[in-house]
Amino acid sequence: MNDTPSPQTASDLRAMKASGRKIVMLTSYDASLTVHCEDAGVDVLLVGDSLGMVIQGHDSTLPVTLEHMIYHSACVARARRQALLAVDMPYHSYETPGQAVANARRLLEEGGADMVKLEGGAAILDQLEALRDAGIRVCGHLGLLPQSVAELGGYKVQGRTPEDAERILNDARALERAGVEMIVLECIPAALGQRISKALAIPTIGIGAGSDCDGQVLVSYDLLGLTPGRRPRFAHDFLSEQPAGKGIADAIRAYVDAVREGRFPGPEHSFT
Ligand code: KIV
Repeated sequence: MNDTPSPQTASDLRAMKASGRKIVMLTSYDASLTVHCEDAGVDVLLVGDSLGMVIQGHDSTLPVTLEHMIYHSACVARARRQALLAVDMPYHSYETPGQAVANARRLLEEGGADMVKLEGGAAILDQLEALRDAGIRVCGHLGLLPQSVAELGGYKVQGRTPEDAERILNDARALERAGVEMIVLECIPAALGQRISKALAIPTIGIGAGSDCDGQVLVSYDLLGLTPGRRPRFAHDFLSEQPAGKGIADAIRAYVDAVREGRFPGPEHSFT
């Protein structure tokens, strides 16, 4: 476990939400980028299993293993100073409550994580309650669930029908009751992102979920224009906008400022 006390406790996160201060999350997979994230004032570092796509070159997050996540989390933890370090639990690593707790402990103890992130709603409530009872901090993830991309029929906006929107809202409420401290909302209509954010005391962090979430997250490789191929609508290349002579550190700072000042995301990054 990382010895550095993280300033962001559950109550700090709720206080940020209550005061209207936007929370800035960014993915990081290595020590060097983490230094730039820390210098720029990123609040939450996410070692996302998106590393399966942007680093390992797979076409989904499914091949990522617990060992991969521990390796990258430990790389980030070595450079982490103040930000909260959240780490994805990979596909098939939280099938039962016991497996979830054992694997999350490895991410904390060997990977230096402060918090683990799991995808799903009602189907994983037993796992979430077991993690809470074991004293492990949890971030939820609702909307588009990349680990369930086959069941969802591809990378599509979720929550567009009234029934689906209601299901996601009810899942968010259930996650909060199960002790989850923060929820990532991916690829849902902006109006639903706003509705969920208003309904919860814990913060929501949006990615393609509109500007009314309590914070935002981006995949750092998207922010730096490194991701090959078609870029999702919610992604924004902050590096290409930097004036001559500016670089990666400035692009990350521009993202942090744009989120805090409510300039990112704009309607062009959001869904109806
Ligand atoms: O894996 C990841 O990077 C994520 C973000 C897209 C939120 O889960």
